[in-house]
Amino acid sequence: MKKLFIIANWKSNKTEHESIKWIQEFPISSRSAGQFPNNKEIIICPSFVYLPLLKSYILDHNLPIKLGTQNISKFDEGAYTGEINGKQIKDFADYVIIGHSERRQNFSESEETINKKIEQAKKYRLTPILCVQNPDFRISQKIEIIAYEPVFAIGTNYPDTPENASLVSAEIKKNSLSNHVVYGGSVTSKNVKEFTQKSNIDGVLVGNASLDPLEFFEIIKNA
Ligand code: PGA
Repeated sequence: MKKLFIIANWKSNKTEHESIKWIQEFPISSRSAGQFPNNKEIIICPSFVYLPLLKSYILDHNLPIKLGTQNISKFDEGAYTGEINGKQIKDFADYVIIGHSERRQNFSESEETINKKIEQAKKYRLTPILCVQNPDFRISQKIEIIAYEPVFAIGTNYPDTPENASLVSAEIKKNSLSNHVVYGGSVTSKNVKEFTQKSNIDGVLVGNASLDPLEFFEIIKNA
């Protein structure tokens, strides 16, 4: 059975109260973990400020959930006001989303910046989840997980077709050293299976639909 990465990207959403409510209402428990075959890796990427809270909750309840972040500083520790670096992230998380199209667009992230962020993630043994819009990106390093996220599908309720997503994923695998390609863009519990049943697609990156704990649970169940 292939490994599936089911990743929640909360983006800039949720307060402290809403974050804890989400995890309390997420109907997974250490006991029910057996209901998912252990090929499904569940990763939640909240806002930085709620990582300690969620980490404690996950440890206290022994939940089969990993944490990730939505960004990482391109610099190592030091005099970089306002930045959160890889060494700090490693205290709380195992994964980091890098190069999301919202960061490329709104924060002018270049390929050079993205490469530096990947280097920082690797230095601190964080697994990068690199977001790309097509198979023609230029990253020279091996990336564990690449997310194919066409901009037209993000937050629009118009996902790419599973057929095209599968073709692009195959192309990405051919052009890169990556073993795992996930699809992101308007994934819901209704359409997730159409993507994950494609042999080239190794999971999903979910934005809007991950904000509701019950819907995200359905996505994991149906994947
Ligand atoms: P969406 O976002 O699921 O809301 O389309 C996906 C993403 O931006 O990662």
